[in-house]
Amino acid sequence: MRKDFEVEVTGLGMNRTGYPGAFTPTVKRIIENTIQGRILHLFSGQSLLGEERIDITHKNATIKKDVKEFLRTDNRNWDWILLDPPYQLGADFVKVYKIKRPIACDTTLRNLIKDYSQKHTKNILWLDLSAPMVEGFRRQKLWFLLPGGFHNVRVLSWLQKI
Ligand SMILES: C[S@@+](CC[C@H](N)C(=O)[O-])C[C@H]1O[C@@H](n2cnc3c(N)ncnc32)[C@H](O)[C@@H]1O
Repeated sequence: MRKDFEVEVTGLGMNRTGYPGAFTPTVKRIIENTIQGRILHLFSGQSLLGEERIDITHKNATIKKDVKEFLRTDNRNWDWILLDPPYQLGADFVKVYKIKRPIACDTTLRNLIKDYSQKHTKNILWLDLSAPMVEGFRRQKLWFLLPGGFHNVRVLSWLQKI
């Protein structure tokens, strides 16, 4: 594995907005200091970051749609894709999501994100429980976000097109 990327370890911080939890102030600050230009935000929830925001249910989305359907039909180009996919998939409220598995286990969704990103963006900023890699991109920086207690560590991955 190449290790020529930056690593930063920091606290995750807190929000108390319920699900979908808004980005914590720490995460929002990192995002705002890192990305600029034309931004597509997938799984955007209540966030207002990004000029195009795709979410299946949230009123703050600019397009209320299943991300899979969006990726199959859109062909615009972006400087950044920002995404914070759902991972609490055992809960009752996620029945409307049309996503049954975390992205790590959802090959269709993974392939759609990979194919779309390869064609349409220079950078990806991906918040997840894993540190994903996309073919054709390299890691530029990883932020390890430690929530404390026994909660899951989140990872913010900046992937840059090679
Ligand atoms: C982890 S939350 C993102 C929260 C967001 N970062 C915020 O600041 O509010 C995941 C979001 O994905 C949305 N979602 C779930 N399945 C989806 C799908 N198939 N297509 C589009 N959005 C989906 C949910 O509605 C939820 O808002």
